[in-house]
Amino acid sequence: MEENLKLETQRLAKSWMRHDRKILRDYLVKDVEDPRINVQSILTRHFFVRQLFGEQFDDLMEHELRFSLVMNWVLQLLKKPVRLCQLQAVLDALLMGEENAEEFEIPPYVTETFSSLALPNYICDVLSGWPVETCDGSIPAYFLSTFLTIWQEVLDCEFSRRLSVLEPACGSANDFRFIDAYGIGQFLDYTGFDLCGKNICNAKQMFPDICFKVGNVLEIDAGDKSFDYCFVHDLFEHLSIEAMEVAIGQMCRVARRGICAGFFNMHENDRHVVRGIGDYHWNTLSVAETKAAFEQYGFVVQVIHIDSFLRSRFDFSDTHNKRAYTFILHPE
Ligand SMILES: C[S@@+](CC[C@H](N)C(=O)[O-])C[C@H]1O[C@@H](n2cnc3c(N)ncnc32)[C@H](O)[C@@H]1O
Repeated sequence: MEENLKLETQRLAKSWMRHDRKILRDYLVKDVEDPRINVQSILTRHFFVRQLFGEQFDDLMEHELRFSLVMNWVLQLLKKPVRLCQLQAVLDALLMGEENAEEFEIPPYVTETFSSLALPNYICDVLSGWPVETCDGSIPAYFLSTFLTIWQEVLDCEFSRRLSVLEPACGSANDFRFIDAYGIGQFLDYTGFDLCGKNICNAKQMFPDICFKVGNVLEIDAGDKSFDYCFVHDLFEHLSIEAMEVAIGQMCRVARRGICAGFFNMHENDRHVVRGIGDYHWNTLSVAETKAAFEQYGFVVQVIHIDSFLRSRFDFSDTHNKRAYTFILHPE
């Protein structure tokens, strides 16, 4: 590895290692980042379900995306803060087919989703099934896990050949925890690596039998085309542009059938905007430049701008991050 990349690696490791283990374990799996309701995490799981079972579960995927939008809306309601009787009023309005409940406007995607479901349903549950009189701003795990239970049950009856999957920058198994809990993990030979040893300790503690190791995306310790798929979330913006290009080259080298990549900070301008913060970066990546970087390795790139995707498909305009993109890549 070149000297400047070695230096960048040291600085990256330092910037992630300064957090304590508990923070690293929790901070990317809560609130809007909770992989049960985070659209990019859901799209990654759907990517693998499609590779495993084709279009068989497309309807369930559509329902799960709707579920995530409704739960994100409820999460925003809870931030106000709201009393239980007000949530009940929202439910009453939905049952009556009304567009408003006291001061709350009910968005069309919620009404539409509610009318597509038999009664009772998860919207009834989350609006009326709270154990205490006031809400603390978060949605209890048993509501958030509605589709976790459904996928678990559905996939428990399925058979498939296994896929080998590599996840660079896996954090504390932030997504793998849910890939496993949703029943997808049983079909994957998964390897995760991260530069930050504390993340790997957390991941190994949760999954002693899964291959988690300390590793560097700038020098992936694996042979050419040694994995079927790679996936990655929220890494590239934190690298220098030079390092990002190396990382893209490394992932394209080891993945033989496809890559699913999530980005949290992109724009449609022609050029990347570089922003160094301390020992790492917080860049705004150009969609066009990043797409071209993957294409040079012979991948066809499907670009999903999360906000536009949700607007066009569900008339949903409340995305918490308008700069989020997911790229789905397949070899030419
Ligand atoms: C924003 S976190 C994302 C973690 C996880 N992918 C997620 O989405 O929850 C970025 C992660 O990238 C890791 N990382 C940074 N530079 C890396 C490198 N060169 N190689 C491997 N991992 C790296 C960090 O340790 C950190 O866990």
